[in-house]
Amino acid sequence: FNIHAFQRDLILWYSEQKRTLPWRANQDPYRVWVSEIMLQQTQVDTVIPYFNQFMTRYPTVYDLAKADEQDVLKSWEGLGYYSRARNLHTAVKEVVEEYNGEVPSDKKELKKLKGIGPYTLGAILSIAFDQAEPAVDGNVMRVISRVLHIEEDIAKPKTKTLFEDVIREIISQEDPSSFNQGLMELGALICTPKKPKCDQCPVQEHCLAYEYGNQEDLPIKSKS
Ligand code: ADE
Repeated sequence: FNIHAFQRDLILWYSEQKRTLPWRANQDPYRVWVSEIMLQQTQVDTVIPYFNQFMTRYPTVYDLAKADEQDVLKSWEGLGYYSRARNLHTAVKEVVEEYNGEVPSDKKELKKLKGIGPYTLGAILSIAFDQAEPAVDGNVMRVISRVLHIEEDIAKPKTKTLFEDVIREIISQEDPSSFNQGLMELGALICTPKKPKCDQCPVQEHCLAYEYGNQEDLPIKSKS
């Protein structure tokens, strides 16, 4: 497995084929944060209008911090999983109180904020701050399980740690943002759960599952 060739092919494809999405307009860590929280249990197409409205209503951490919780929850209506909104609101108030309104770029500090788990942590650090940290969600586990032919059960919590370790080994140090978002984009557009579009895949030549022809059998997931 040629790590550098894989990084190059993935990042080039991402730079050319990425969707224009509102949270990709800039690297504002607050925007990245809000988008990643919304995207955790909700589809991209659903998130787009909510994200745009939310940013119009609460353009900065200060606007969100001073908002009424009931109003914040109203803006979230339809997205579900309302604890996401409550935690985000709490965390943003912490950012104003403790970090002078600046989303911390330090991993240890960022991790302390309410609602920021390993995925959100890695997503913000890589996308907003260009730090080489993994951001492993279901899409990323699917892509990596296929490319590297990893047969661990993704229903087991320990497997996520394994994928994080693997990503640490292969992430681009030069452009971790495009690398991580490239994996997400590949999972969304090409390396889909069913009938992956291997003929259009920019990393087909690096993919072990493609070589073995068992891409549709990966990842392995016991319970659902
Ligand atoms: N899913 C999770 N994070 C995403 C992102 N930044 N862009 C597109 N889809 C995503």
